[in-house]
Amino acid sequence: MQRLAKNWQRQRVRVGFVPTMGYLHAGHLSLVRRARRIVGAKGKVVVSIYVNPTQFGPKEDLSRYPRDFARDRKLCREAGVDVIFAPVDREMYPAGEGEEFSTYVVEESLSRGMEGAARPTHFRGVTTVVAKLFNLVLPEVAVFGAKDFQQAAIIRRMVRDLNFPVKIVVAPTHRERDGLAMSSRNKYLSPVEREQATVLSEALALAKKSVRRGAVSSVRLKADLARFVTNRPAARLDYVELFDPRTLQPVSKVGRGTQMALAVFFGKTRLIDNETL
Ligand code: PAJ
Repeated sequence: MQRLAKNWQRQRVRVGFVPTMGYLHAGHLSLVRRARRIVGAKGKVVVSIYVNPTQFGPKEDLSRYPRDFARDRKLCREAGVDVIFAPVDREMYPAGEGEEFSTYVVEESLSRGMEGAARPTHFRGVTTVVAKLFNLVLPEVAVFGAKDFQQAAIIRRMVRDLNFPVKIVVAPTHRERDGLAMSSRNKYLSPVEREQATVLSEALALAKKSVRRGAVSSVRLKADLARFVTNRPAARLDYVELFDPRTLQPVSKVGRGTQMALAVFFGKTRLIDNETL
């Protein structure tokens, strides 16, 4: 991959990159279209498909994370992707005696709350693999989804702090018709859970509505939202946060421009969503 990327660089070919864990859906494909629009018809769009083990906790869904490479390849071909980079674990994280992998990239501020609190080693895995992918693909621009708001903020910070010569673009969240944010993990939901999973986008809409009537206290709104989510019998609220979109610091007064993020369990399946209020 790196040899190919260096050749492109020598020939001044523009490279747009969309990192994924595969099991592609319309959300991923919207990032691909965005990358294509940026690099143009003569540019190259690279999609990586790699279920990165270092970003999964010991009790998480690494082994059952959905995979379908044949389908992903077809979708990439139809979307005009030039190259799929799909490495295997032993290439990304060598394990042999005396040559095991031991260097990680750790963001220490934006990673603390929300997803980082719920999944303690998650972002260390994300920043490490994205740094590796950037060094392999050597993109001019990389496109991430707003669906993973905290992830995108952390990648932006990593790029700035470590001087990666990559432009980060964040594209809007792609949704099902009923508002559910597209996610590879939606596949895990039972029909009843799928029906109740709209509670995430409904909670975001509810918060938007209350903010439109004027600023509200974070404590009050959080309590209202928790009650709203818990009203669905299949849903268990993991967290709901109201914060400054740049610093990710919680706010006490919620108004227009405040960012809201929430995580909700349906059985073992954990879904996340967020919006600017
Ligand atoms: P994955 O969950 O496969 O997502 C890949 C990219 O697609 C991320 O930037 C994510 O934010 C974006 N995405 C997912 N659902 C979306 C939706 N409904 N609308 C718009 N964009 C969406 O995020 C990861 O993989 C990994 O952490 C990765 C960055 C690849 C590192 O392993």
